Amino acid sequence: MPESITITDNRNGETYEIPIVNGGVSAIEWSKILPGIWFVDPAFMSTAAAESAITYLDGTAGILRYRGYPIEQLAEQSTYLEVAYLLLNGELPSENQFASWREDVTMHTFIHENVRKRFLDGFHYDAHPMGMLVSAVAALSTFYLDAKDIFDPTSRQKQITRLIAKMPTLAAAAHRFSVGMPFVYPDNSLDFPSNFLSMMWKVAEPTYHADPVLSRALDILFILHADHEQNCSTTAMRVVGSSHADPYSACAAACAALYGPRHGGANEAVIRMLGEIGSMDEVPAFVEAVKAGHGRLQGFGHRVYKSYDPRAKIIKRTADEVFSITGKNPLLDIALKLEEIALNDEYFISRRLYPNVDFYSGLIYQAMGFPLEMFPVLFAIPRTAGWLAHWQEMLDQDSKIARPRQLFIGADARDYVPMAGRGASS
Ligand code: CMC
Repeated sequence: MPESITITDNRNGETYEIPIVNGGVSAIEWSKILPGIWFVDPAFMSTAAAESAITYLDGTAGILRYRGYPIEQLAEQSTYLEVAYLLLNGELPSENQFASWREDVTMHTFIHENVRKRFLDGFHYDAHPMGMLVSAVAALSTFYLDAKDIFDPTSRQKQITRLIAKMPTLAAAAHRFSVGMPFVYPDNSLDFPSNFLSMMWKVAEPTYHADPVLSRALDILFILHADHEQNCSTTAMRVVGSSHADPYSACAAACAALYGPRHGGANEAVIRMLGEIGSMDEVPAFVEAVKAGHGRLQGFGHRVYKSYDPRAKIIKRTADEVFSITGKNPLLDIALKLEEIALNDEYFISRRLYPNVDFYSGLIYQAMGFPLEMFPVLFAIPRTAGWLAHWQEMLDQDSKIARPRQLFIGADARDYVPMAGRGASS
């Protein structure tokens, strides 16, 4: 029997049956019954704003899958570039498809000289690299005028390839500028993560050889951050994309959403918190202070996950591998102690607060030498694949422009008062 709910309009006693489809009830059906009455859900806490086939997330069971593939298997066996293909196309690539995708991405890693020389070099000397990235991604739309042809399959694919390929170049350029180092051109003989590390760290050597363990660790972090269904930045991408803006402009909006500390900035907050705690002896007192309402345990809790974030489990393993090369991040012991105490404390157990992806990712980035300001930038590089997959899916669904309603709570109609008649205090 098809699932449905029946509701009664108490104003006239009429009943209506509304089907439950894919775990949701259509607000359109409701609004037929309640014309002029809107659903109030400011942060979309109970609203599915899209039908999507990209990422499955079960926060209670701690499950995350891209296109049906468990995140654990992808992190273990795949690469970021393959995962990007999977997210964008729905299937894992064949050998030929992957070779051609990798070639395409590799051939688009360079940015126009004017983006760097005239645009990026124009920033103030201490510009935040994430602010530079947001602006640079938006500026790309002025270099690729064909990006406006969003329903032309060839043009759309070209912009997707460009964005995936150029994000690491822009990200590294923003970092180099912010520390006064010369720009490093992409080295197309290197794989995706190694090329990024080369653009970040190369000094005078002809070829920068990244440690393969660090390169692989970064690739795993890219896989884990590639998509997370309808998060804040992906929603920004969909909303701006729904106006049929070009993908660079929509992607810049997504980057801007990721800039905020509630989204892409939480791992930075973790590092600052661990630094403030200072030593393992101080951990119990810090936990007590959090329980007493003095701040939050950064890197703990999640709107959707009410069990251990599956990405955090994978990251914890990756951290060990990275520390075997870089030496242990001195903050790790504090983090482990904090996790141990919190996971055994009734306050955190009863609220189902577990470590999230950000609890350990910052420790890894810091051990690899990335400054704190680069953390959201490192998030934006792989999330571009997810943003573009959602953007494409939305356009293919012939979606309408995003345009929510409001409940007006302002002044009733009143007559304009000329300035002379307003009195001194108004
Ligand atoms: N430390 C201490 N208490 C917490 C924490 C925390 N990190 N998170 C939630 N709580 C408590 C909160 O005080 C509340 O308690 P009470 O019921 O007594 O008032 C209860 O748990 C529910 O909290 P909430 O604020 O209603 O939960 P939310 O779903 O709105 O917030 C969150 C989710 C991620 C914003 C929040 O857990 C938080 O602020 N965490 C710390 C920041 C963080 O790590 N953010 C990264 C999230 S993962 C990034 C990503 O996936 O993109």
